[in-house]
Amino acid sequence: MEYTISSLTLYFTVLFYILFDVATAVNRWQGKEVRWSTNCDFPGNNIGNQTIGGDQCGTICQSILAECTHFTFTLSQGGTCWFKSGPVSSVQAIPLDSPGSVCGFLDISWINEIDFSWSHHCTFPGGDFKNQSSTGRLCGSMCMDNPQCTHFVWTNVEGQGGICWMKSGGATRESAILTPGARGAVCGFRHNPNPNASVPIVTTSAPWFNTDTCECVC
Ligand SMILES: *[C@@H]1O[C@H](CO)[C@@H](O)[C@H](O)[C@H]1NC(C)=O
Ligand SMILES: *[C@@H]1O[C@H](CO)[C@@H](O)[C@H](O)[C@H]1NC(C)=O
Ligand SMILES: *[C@@H]1O[C@H](CO)[C@@H](O)[C@H](O)[C@H]1NC(C)=O
Repeated sequence: MEYTISSLTLYFTVLFYILFDVATAVNRWQGKEVRWSTNCDFPGNNIGNQTIGGDQCGTICQSILAECTHFTFTLSQGGTCWFKSGPVSSVQAIPLDSPGSVCGFLDISWINEIDFSWSHHCTFPGGDFKNQSSTGRLCGSMCMDNPQCTHFVWTNVEGQGGICWMKSGGATRESAILTPGARGAVCGFRHNPNPNASVPIVTTSAPWFNTDTCECVC
């Protein structure tokens, strides 16, 4: 009996350290807009593969494939990127016992200006009160110049040109939604919004990929 219990204790202790090691291994993420780690995989959701160097997976996912949000690279066939779609987070990565393998995902990486922060590849749903054609560079200052504006999204849909979508009701880093690779909208929010601009946010419970209908060429 005692023997069984101590065996079990040992078993669970070893299991704990294996799991702990595994968890920390997949937590060593590097990069900003493209977060990646080694010896890991995001299983499923494949939308394509390409025989190419592992350092190209992130760029192709980000700027060529419209639906790509994450990827896995393995050394099969001399190096293959496996592109994947759909919402993903770092905790979904699993360890992959395959030397040279890499897994990665696109992330929102904020650039902080004095009055506002912005990022590529993101959007804020709802809250629109004005849209205006503009270059991406001018959209932030157009929002700053409008007291009603608390946040903005800039899109460059083919055939429409660049459009600055000014929004009110407030937004935070956490309310930004990643937009897949080639759809690359830019989103931003004001650090100190005018308190008078606080009209209620129009929220939607629809999944992000249903509300995000823009196909951008940014
Ligand atoms: C890899 O991509 C090619 C097309 O480029 C496709 O024909 C093939 O089925 C894919 N392989 C797998 C395992 O999905
Ligand atoms: C964009 O703004 C114009 C007015 O400037 C408005 O008529 C149009 O409905 C707006 N588009 C959307 C999709 O909100
Ligand atoms: C907010 O609105 C009130 C009344 O409309 C106005 O007096 C006040 O100056 C506004 N505050 C700001 C910061 O614009």
